[in-house]
Amino acid sequence: MIVAENLVKEFKVLERRPGLLGSLGTLFSREYRVVRAVAGVSFELPAGVKAAYIGANGAGKSTTIKMLTGIMRPTSGRCLVNGLEPYRERRRTAAGIGVVFGQRSQLWWDLPVPDSFRILRRIHEIPDPVYRRNMARYRQLLDLDALGSTPVRQLSLGQRMRAEVAASLLHDPAVVFLDEPTVGLDLVLKEAVRELVNQVNAELGTTVLLTSHDIGDITAICDQVLVVNHGEVVHQGTMHELLRTADTRAVVFEYRDGPTPEQAVALVEDRLDGASAGRIDGGRIKVEYPARRWSVRQVMGFLLEHFDLTDCVAPEPDLETVLRRIYARRAGTREVPV
Ligand SMILES: Nc1ncnc2c1ncn2[C@@H]1O[C@H](COP(=O)(O)OP(=O)(O)O)[C@@H](O)[C@H]1O
Ligand SMILES: [Mg+2]
Repeated sequence: MIVAENLVKEFKVLERRPGLLGSLGTLFSREYRVVRAVAGVSFELPAGVKAAYIGANGAGKSTTIKMLTGIMRPTSGRCLVNGLEPYRERRRTAAGIGVVFGQRSQLWWDLPVPDSFRILRRIHEIPDPVYRRNMARYRQLLDLDALGSTPVRQLSLGQRMRAEVAASLLHDPAVVFLDEPTVGLDLVLKEAVRELVNQVNAELGTTVLLTSHDIGDITAICDQVLVVNHGEVVHQGTMHELLRTADTRAVVFEYRDGPTPEQAVALVEDRLDGASAGRIDGGRIKVEYPARRWSVRQVMGFLLEHFDLTDCVAPEPDLETVLRRIYARRAGTREVPV
C-alpha cells in the first residue's frame, strides 16, 4: 500500500548568469532559484495494484519515486509505503520494497550477476526456498544463465536491465518501483520483463508502480494509471477511464452496395457536424467525431440508416493523443476523475 499526501519536493539551484562577469558575479551574489519538481502530489494505491505513473519528461516522476523509496526527503507533505515513512525508516522500508532505476544500477559493477544476487541474498536474509524459487523463475523468464561470469560493467544494456529487474524482486518485496525498466530493451526482452512483473504480481500480490515512456509496457502491465503534469496528479483511475476522457472517438466501418467511398465520406462529413471521415485500407471508412457533440448511439444510428454495414469496429482512443491533450493544459487545471 502506497500513500502520498501533498508531497512536495523543491530543489535549490544556483542561478548562473551568462558570460565571465556573470559567473564571477555568482561567487558573490549566490542567487538561488527554486525548482518545484513535485508540487503537492497526493494519491493512494491499495496493495496488489499495478499502477502506471505517467507524465511528460521532467514532470517529477523520478523525484516522486525517490521520495517513496527513501532516497530523498520531501520538502513538505508525507508518504507511507507498507505503513512506513521511507525517509525516516530507510532500512525497514528497504526490506519491503524493490527499486529499478533504468538510468542507474543497483548491481555491483565489477562482479558477475550471480555474485550480486548472492550478496543481495545475504543483505535481505532471503530464506533458501524463496531464493531458489525466484532464481528458477528468472532463469526461465530472463535467461540469466546466459549472463555467466561476465562483470556487470561489460554486459549489454539489455542484459543488465534484466538482471536489475530480477535483483529488485529477489527478496519478494511487497512493493516494487520500476522507473523506466525497459529503456533500451528490444521487444522480446521487454515482453520478458512484462511477463515477469505480471507473474510476480499474480502469484505474490506485489504492488507495482511503474513509469515508462513505452505505452506497450503500460498497457501490458498496469491496471491503474496516475497522470502527473507540472508536478501534480491530474488523473487517477483505470486505463479505460483515462481513455474515456478522449474528446475524439472513432469508428471504422465497411458496407456493401450503395454510395461510392467518396460519396460515403462526403455524406458522413456533411451530416455529422464536426466529424472527419476518410478511406483506409481495404475500402473501409474511418470516422472521427467529437465525443461531446455526438453519442455512440447517434453515430451508430446514422451509419445503420445510411449504409448496409458488413463490419463495424470502434477502436479505443489512442493513449498518446489523450496524454498530449492533458500535457497541453496549463498548470493547475485539474481533471475531475471520472
Ligand atoms: N537534483 C536535482 N536538482 C535540481 N533539479 C532537479 C533535480 N532532480 C530533478 N530536478 C528537476 O526536477 C524536475 C523533475 O525531474 P524528474 O523527477 O527527474 O522528472 P521525470 O522523472 O518525470 O522526468 C525537472 O525539472 C528536473 O530538472
Ligand atoms: Mg525520470
